[in-house]
Amino acid sequence: MLTHILFCELWGNWDSDKLHRMKRVFIETYGCQMNVYDTELIKSILGAAHYDVVTSEHQADVVMLNTCSVRENANRKVHLRIQELRRNRPQHSIAIGVLGCMATNFKTALLEDPQLGIDFIAGPDSYKQLPQLIENAWQGGSDRFDVTLSEFETYSDIEPTRDSAVNAWVAIMRGCNNFCTFCVVPYTRGRERSRTIESVSDEVKRLVDQGFKQVTLLGQNVNSYRSDAHDFTDLMDAVSQIDGLERVRFTSPHPKDFPNRLLSLMAERETICKQIHLPLQAGNSRVLSKMNRTYTKEEFLSLVERIRSLIPKVALSTDIIVGFPTETHDEFLDTLDVVQQVQFDSAYIFKYSERPNTVAARRFPDDVSEADKTARIVQLNECQRNISLSKNKACIGSNERVLIEALSTKKSELDCQGRTDSNRIVILPLQADVTLGQMRQVRIVDATPNVLKGEWV
Ligand code: SAH
Ligand code: SF4
Ligand code: F3S
Repeated sequence: MLTHILFCELWGNWDSDKLHRMKRVFIETYGCQMNVYDTELIKSILGAAHYDVVTSEHQADVVMLNTCSVRENANRKVHLRIQELRRNRPQHSIAIGVLGCMATNFKTALLEDPQLGIDFIAGPDSYKQLPQLIENAWQGGSDRFDVTLSEFETYSDIEPTRDSAVNAWVAIMRGCNNFCTFCVVPYTRGRERSRTIESVSDEVKRLVDQGFKQVTLLGQNVNSYRSDAHDFTDLMDAVSQIDGLERVRFTSPHPKDFPNRLLSLMAERETICKQIHLPLQAGNSRVLSKMNRTYTKEEFLSLVERIRSLIPKVALSTDIIVGFPTETHDEFLDTLDVVQQVQFDSAYIFKYSERPNTVAARRFPDDVSEADKTARIVQLNECQRNISLSKNKACIGSNERVLIEALSTKKSELDCQGRTDSNRIVILPLQADVTLGQMRQVRIVDATPNVLKGEWV
């Protein structure tokens, strides 16, 4: 007994049997696709350091949450989850780590919160330190956090461990320099930096060799991509010509930066999907200026016109925030007006959520009432739902090329699921000859606001 106590104290109180085998790590991912990609990088980093990445928290010695801080409810979700983990597994039976954007947003305050009992934290540019941080936490050491942001880290030298087999996410840049006044991302992910064209192209070639049919180029701000003298259009030109690649997508671009060269390339290059996620955020020019979005309502509308004149069949999706500080009802109606004029194929609509450190949090009181935010989001969602439904219904009767991405759906084992070039989900009856990654011709026979139904042709 005495030796056991001494042993445990020596090793920072961890269960002695766990010291003698490979540590088992479980990672849970929250937030955007960049976090999904980062989790894939982390799996490779930990695998190389001889950690065993497991698929359930119940098998794990170390549980890591790769977190998001973009809105308050993203934070809240993680707090509740950590409390749940701690209830189920007392301190010293597992180590809990917080990674990602909450780590850089709240820094050591997270470690100091006694309600959470977090053992280590690592920000988005510190994942190469994770094996050391875990070890330090495991041994009860004090060096248990790294939230420094780098001007250079792109993880180009690490091949992500991907779970999917059809679409691969490929980060082409990290960070953001735009400082939209509502947004925490520039603070949590630091300054923009890009990988080279060669590094991205080589990764995509390896993905094609592994059987991936589609890549989605990722960045907070993809059209700010710069590497040597090359811009995002050059990168798209190179990637979209890679032999064997069926489809290239990208997300997210900023409306400030859409040269005709890029749009023309998208129009003529078959492998580039005719789909753009074009975040509007607000439809009123005064609010847009207060958000530091750098375009007016009119400029956004003329960009949409220019995009549609060069890529006639393009599908457009967007992000919108309602209830930004000082937004009046009339100004909200401008957002509604843009939504009605543009007729986006789909939209993600959020209530403004004040984020620590941002310009808006420091300078603009969160003065739109919760009731008004709710009324605006309900009205906008209702409007978009009708638009999405009528756009999807217009697809009925058409033939589409669909990339098969799942052999079941959330609702049924008898159906499979694919995507059109325009990024619409199509549900199809599962047949024996259907395989993941197939490109199939289908006829659209029915539609809801969110999905199409198809039959094989
Ligand atoms: N880099 C991407 C998106 C980043 S975050 C871009 O610029 O498009 C994804 C979306 O979350 C944003 O487009 C915005 O609509 C929303 N968002 C960001 N900060 C928010 C906040 N403080 N409150 C509510 N929504 C927010
Ligand atoms: Fe945030 Fe704006 Fe950067 Fe997007 S462009 S990540 S919304 S600061
Ligand atoms: Fe969230 Fe960070 Fe992505 S705040 S949206 S996980 S960049």
